[in-house]
Amino acid sequence: MEIRLRTDADMPALLAALKATHEVDTYPVLPNHVTKEWLLEGDDGMAWVAEHDGDVVGHIAVATTEEDPDSLSVHRLFVRPGARGQGVASALLTTVETYSKVLGQDLFLEVLSHNVEAIRLYESRGWKRVGGYVAVWTGPEGTHPDINIYASPHNDASHVLDVGAGRPTE
Ligand SMILES: CC(C)(COP(=O)(O)OP(=O)(O)OC[C@H]1O[C@@H](n2cnc3c(N)ncnc32)[C@H](O)[C@@H]1OP(=O)(O)O)[C@@H](O)C(=O)NCCC(=O)NCCS
Repeated sequence: MEIRLRTDADMPALLAALKATHEVDTYPVLPNHVTKEWLLEGDDGMAWVAEHDGDVVGHIAVATTEEDPDSLSVHRLFVRPGARGQGVASALLTTVETYSKVLGQDLFLEVLSHNVEAIRLYESRGWKRVGGYVAVWTGPEGTHPDINIYASPHNDASHVLDVGAGRPTE
């Protein structure tokens, strides 16, 4: 398996993988977010794919954290259902953890409560839940999803993110 920077040529394979991920995991929550625009939204162009035997099987991006311009957030992490449980997401996470360390920036992420496999993976890698809030937007059933905020184990432990800024908090 190879981790490399995303290119435009990866889009068809990534959208097919994202569609399958939506069907299995409700990620993204809304079916009309299975688009190139949603995938690229806010990632500052720093994004990587995992390739296995010539197939693009996973994706990850980083973006500036909404509340803190000196921190990075993980965005759009997913692995095609047929390629899971083989360390693809772990390799993608290692890539962004290394990237943020090289830049000297702390790394955070947001995960919905129903994405239980992702939460288990983050916690097994030492990520810690540092807060959460209820989304202002609604899912297909008209409910407001719970969003959890996690901090990378490599962060400066004294760095507390003001997750409530500008958002409805728990
Ligand atoms: C969460 C997600 C990205 C994980 O992808 P993945 O490639 O299966 O993840 P990994 O293989 O790295 O790790 C998954 C598990 O397999 C284990 N694993 C890793 N390498 C392995 C290997 N070679 N053999 C067997 N198991 C392995 C890991 O230890 C991990 O177990 P844990 O969760 O109990 O710690 C994937 O389930 C997904 O796309 N979910 C839907 C989208 C989503 O929720 N994204 C997160 C948004 S915030």
